[in-house]
This record gives sequence, C-alpha cells and structure tokens, in this order.
Amino acid sequence: MIEHRWFLGVRLIRGLALCTASVLIFATTMGLTRKEGQKKPLLIAHRGASGYAPEHTFESYRIAMEQGADFVEQDLQVTKDGVLICLHDPDLGRTTDVAEVFPGREMVRDPEETGKPKRGWYAVDFTLAEIKMLDAGSWFNRANPFASSPAYAGQHVPTMEETIKFVGKRAGLYIELKHVPFYKSFGFDVADKLARLLKAHGFDRPSESRRIFIQSFYKDGLLRMRELAPGFSRIQLLPMEDLARREDTAKVTPALASEIATYAQGVGPSKAMIPSAVEVATLHAAGLLIHPYTFRGSTSASARRPLDEKQTNGATLRQNIITDIQKYVGLGIDGGFTDYPDLWRQANSSRNR
Ligand code: G3P
Ligand code: CA
Repeated sequence: MIEHRWFLGVRLIRGLALCTASVLIFATTMGLTRKEGQKKPLLIAHRGASGYAPEHTFESYRIAMEQGADFVEQDLQVTKDGVLICLHDPDLGRTTDVAEVFPGREMVRDPEETGKPKRGWYAVDFTLAEIKMLDAGSWFNRANPFASSPAYAGQHVPTMEETIKFVGKRAGLYIELKHVPFYKSFGFDVADKLARLLKAHGFDRPSESRRIFIQSFYKDGLLRMRELAPGFSRIQLLPMEDLARREDTAKVTPALASEIATYAQGVGPSKAMIPSAVEVATLHAAGLLIHPYTFRGSTSASARRPLDEKQTNGATLRQNIITDIQKYVGLGIDGGFTDYPDLWRQANSSRNR
C-alpha cells in the first residue's frame, strides 16, 4: 500500500531530468522501479479521511487506510502534561465538546504569533486525562448530517503513540510539528518529543524510517528534527510560519528552493503557490519533492458539502475535486494532501487510462 521513494535517488534523477527531457527516469518505490512518466504521486490523507469522518480520530484514519492512503497525516499539539496528541487546532473548541465539559477553563493565547491573542480552550492548558474525557466526533455529525455516523460520536483525541500503534504497518505517517515556538515557551521541545517517540517504536531503523515524513511550517522545527533524527525525510510547508519568514516564503523562487534543499527533501506548498509548471520546474531543479495542500474542493474543514452537489460551474463537487487533482498531477507534483483519499485514487486511475 505504501508508495514510498528512495528520496536520494529521486533527487539524483531530478538532476538527470534537467539534462535531457527524453531520458528514461526511474524511481524506486518499495522495491519496484518505474519510469518517471508512470510514477504514482503519493496519496497523503489529510487529517485522515477528514472529508468523510471527524478529523484526527481513529475512524478518520481507518477510512483513510481502507481507501488506500499511502500516508496518514498527523498534526501535533502538546497537552499540559507534555503528551503529543493528534489535533489540528491548538484550541480544542472546534472539534470537541470542551466548552460543555470544561466551562470557564478558557485562556487567552496566541499560538500562531498573530499579535492578536484569542480566548479558547487550548490543549496546552489541559492534561491528557482531561482531554480523553472529550467527544471529538459528534461535532462532525452535527455539522455534516449527510455524512454522519453513530460510530463517530464519542471518538477520542488520539495521542501520537496511540496513532503509531493504530496505524501499524498499514500506512506511513506524515507528521506535522505545529506551533514550535509557542510550545517552546512552555518548555516543550516538540521535535525532541517526537524523535524520542519514533525511536522508541523502532522507526530509526532504515527500513522503517522510510515510512515517516516530518513536515512543518517552521524551518526551525525541521532544523531541530534534522539534528535529532536525520534519517527522517523533512518537508518544509509553505509559506513558512517562522516570524521573520512569512512574507519572503509566500512565492516559489529559485533562491527559496535552493535554501530549502539544504535541509529538507521536499516542500508542502499551498496549492496557490503552484499556479503553473514553472514553479514545479523550479522546485524539481533544486531536487525537492512537491506535496501541495489541500485537495478538498470548495469545502471547509468544519462544514462539508455533499459530493454529488452541483457547484457554480455545473459540475459536482466530486468531479471538481477530481479535476483539480488531475490538473496538479499533470503539472508534475509528487504527491498531495487530500481530505478524500478515494477521489485521489479515482483521479489518478482515470488519468492513467
Ligand atoms: O500539513 C499540510 C497541511 O495540512 C497544512 O495545512 O493547516 O491543514 O495543517 P493544515
Ligand atoms: Ca497539517
């Protein structure tokens, strides 16, 4: 199921591709080789199959793997007692019933360093035991009645360690270090916690490290990870969120690509940063993999729309997502984050026919 490359080989291959467009290029994938023109872009299930089930729950991860995800994505936050949990927002409010279970426990914080602190139920203010009391699935049923399931109600926020055990060898793990400076201000070194956890579960063995990607919007987080566990492939998400880099990293340039290539194997840009094949060529010329986010059409992470619903262009949401995936794959991306893993597979199988 896992379609993972030998990344150093891929980088060499990219160099060859620049020399001649007609050269036959091979990438090694789980012991198989295939020509560049036949390569299959990586399917990264964004927060699991988050279009179909509440994000970052075992149900979401289970469906993602059933639908053939190569990698399942985790976003990491840290609890008050220092445990890594899989949760996208630093605030538990959107995806759990924390407001009902812990009224009055809000704090005013600014994890994204926006200069505009907000009141919320931040994970870092709750112990793991408290967070395990929360229902992380019923919100999805309420927001998306057309996609609801009794199995989603009462789902828990998983820890990273529970996720490692739950996923097992069924898929790779594509793990994001979030809010690195925010957690550092509480004395938490997120990269160190993750490196220790992955090593404890044997992922530092070469055969296993290939099943891990570490991604971050923070260059500092990736540099720290390289120092602690250099064997894991690193993906720089763009635009960067390091305070001094938010503006000069919002556009793909040869200088930015060269800089990132000194410490990472690839980039995860917003789709808007890849408007054409020019940006793909620039990043590939630097030897970088390209995994854009997020393929989910006109839905938001909180409120979905039925896939059969017609959009303003007359096509269904399902068709528009498939067309979008095919457009980017046609530009030459190496993988992508999607909330709908089955549509990614459908897009690529019909494209290859
Ligand atoms: O990590 C890639 C993509 O997930 C970035 O966006 O906000 O969903 O973590 P976000
Ligand atoms: Ca993410």
